[in-house]
Amino acid sequence: MNDKDFITIALPKGKLFGLSADLLAKVGWSAEGLTEKSRKLIISNDEARLKFIITKTADVPTYVEYGAADIGIIGKDVILESGKDVYELLDLGFGKCHLMMAVPKDKKRPRLEDYAHTRVATKFPHIAEKFFAAQGMQMEYIKLNGSIELGPIVGLSESIVDIVETGTTLRENNLEEIVTIMNATARLIANRVSYKLKFERINTLVNDLSKILHG
Ligand code: PRP
Repeated sequence: MNDKDFITIALPKGKLFGLSADLLAKVGWSAEGLTEKSRKLIISNDEARLKFIITKTADVPTYVEYGAADIGIIGKDVILESGKDVYELLDLGFGKCHLMMAVPKDKKRPRLEDYAHTRVATKFPHIAEKFFAAQGMQMEYIKLNGSIELGPIVGLSESIVDIVETGTTLRENNLEEIVTIMNATARLIANRVSYKLKFERINTLVNDLSKILHG
């Protein structure tokens, strides 16, 4: 059996991993030893002709765009930020969060425009730039890879553009949301060529998942 008989699935480490693996297992797409902590980089289920790869969140669209993974599960926010050309098959509903701009409570300015030309720390510079450009605002973007909330606390930036899920991180760091940029949920994505070549299996997956998600 060669690779073209297998479907390779990219799953992100972190908050979406468990929910994604659980959902796929419900439709029989699973593999022994598929855990986030696995040191093995590829976890296969030869009988079901499946291969799972576990990657950094931001890398899932890259693996899928290049066809190194046929399909993947990842947040809408990460898809948009990546700018990768992938086929979005299904909104999975979980991983609900929103991308927003926040500032320290005690340094709040009256209007959004008052932040023009200030520095914003973010993991999402492309989405942020598009948003602020649409408001006619030019900003200075400082790309961080995690713990974005630190930015304004240590004086690296005036504000942050980041994901909020429960709001706990904002609250614990005395930050206040001043504008929502977009809402996001996890999506099932596919490589455009794989979707055509492996249509039957991928389409069956989409139908099976839809049934579970919609009742
Ligand atoms: C995300 C995000 C916020 C936090 C928001 O970070 O960047 O920091 O979750 O969640 P909350 O509203 O429930 O507090 P993540 O945990 O992915 O880690 P990171 O900041 O290191 O990327």
